Amino acid sequence: MSSNRDNTRAQFSTRIGVIATAVGSAIGLGNIWRFPYEAGSNGGGAFMLCYIFFICLLGIPLICAEFIIGRATRSNEIKAFEKLAPGRKWFLNGYIGVLASVLILSFYSVVAGWTLEFFLVAVTGHMPSNSAELHRFFSEFISGNWRPLIWTIVFLVVNYLVVCRGVQKGIERLSNCLMPAMTLLLIAFCVNSLFLPGASDGLRFLFSPDFSKIDSESLLSAMGQAFFSLSIGLGGMLTYASYFPDTVRLGSCATTTAVLDTFVAILAGVIIFPAVFTYGISPQSGPTLVFETLPAIFMNLPGGTIWATLFFFLLFLASITSTISMSEISIAYFEEERRLSRKKATALTIGIAILLGSVCALSFGPLSDMKIFGKTVFDLFDYVSSNICLPVGGIVTSIFVGWVIDRKVIDSQMGCRGQRGFGVRVLIVILRYIAPAAIMLIFLNSLGVL
Ligand code: TRP
Repeated sequence: MSSNRDNTRAQFSTRIGVIATAVGSAIGLGNIWRFPYEAGSNGGGAFMLCYIFFICLLGIPLICAEFIIGRATRSNEIKAFEKLAPGRKWFLNGYIGVLASVLILSFYSVVAGWTLEFFLVAVTGHMPSNSAELHRFFSEFISGNWRPLIWTIVFLVVNYLVVCRGVQKGIERLSNCLMPAMTLLLIAFCVNSLFLPGASDGLRFLFSPDFSKIDSESLLSAMGQAFFSLSIGLGGMLTYASYFPDTVRLGSCATTTAVLDTFVAILAGVIIFPAVFTYGISPQSGPTLVFETLPAIFMNLPGGTIWATLFFFLLFLASITSTISMSEISIAYFEEERRLSRKKATALTIGIAILLGSVCALSFGPLSDMKIFGKTVFDLFDYVSSNICLPVGGIVTSIFVGWVIDRKVIDSQMGCRGQRGFGVRVLIVILRYIAPAAIMLIFLNSLGVL
């Protein structure tokens, strides 16, 4: 592991490793599970168009903003804000990031646990092959008392073991080989979906926008989904960038990450919606949508068991490369600010996630009547983190880089020598004016304030 200037912090070793890790953080359940169900619940095509618009207009600039803060300070999120604006209150945003990332880790691990159950069922050859049976199997599974809980805990313990091995060894190697394999498999499924009888209905749903379906709530969801999928707003990319070597070009790394991430989300949509219309599943089924749809696709293919096994295994690995980045936000904080050893910092983070995750895991079954603001705990965690914490984090991050920090920091991190290039000038305009105004408008509008 190469060390940096102060010889204490770890660093990623290669440029490819850096891109693979950023992409590994971005691509996960957000693309394959959350994007299709959010698109399904928010009108399909129009949602997708808004989502892509937010990725380009706000997503790429905000990844750059987090990269700039992270690499310029080489610190955990809270220290990073403190270093760039000493003695002011900006570091408070770091606390929101740490808290919200643990919330996300909790409900995310429940879904990652579902992938483990499906993997096991596929491997042992017990995957139901028609959609009615599948529906019954899945409903029984998530409403059970034990299995969802145990899988959530198993997933978090595996996450603990990977993270404990340190930044580079654990994360970098895993990401390097997994993402290409996952993408190839997705492309194969995509081609298959295009031949399903419901393909044209599915594609029409996903690609032809009906703007009457768009209201402020679905705009907020599209923006929250863009942030969630790119791991921005809470300091996920910031924390990773604190381990980047100086040679990495932040702008191109941000763009590559966003393009690949969006590509995978669209692939997931193209796989899911033809199947949704073929097997008569409601696009508005919510968090269960993908888990009821995908196995039906696989089991209707020759060698279905093998496809299902392979897919759920890769989905589990894609989830882990994302949860590693979520955990890293609070681990870096506990390690550097609270002076815990890496092991203890990891154990504390995972311990909290196990407690909260257990409640989420049971919220489809024994705790389904426990409603807060009309939502189950799982839905509440998802809503609060994605639709409140991510936009708030996005506003603060853009204002911070656009208005507060010294321009020289931006120039040096973005590699400007002498004249500031066009890209960096656009970046500054977006971070100063467009991003804060747009996020604020959508956010307040959906709260009914505007
Ligand atoms: N981007 C990941 C996904 O799409 C989720 C994720 C990883 C995340 N790290 C994050 C979301 C940090 C918010 C903050 O699955």
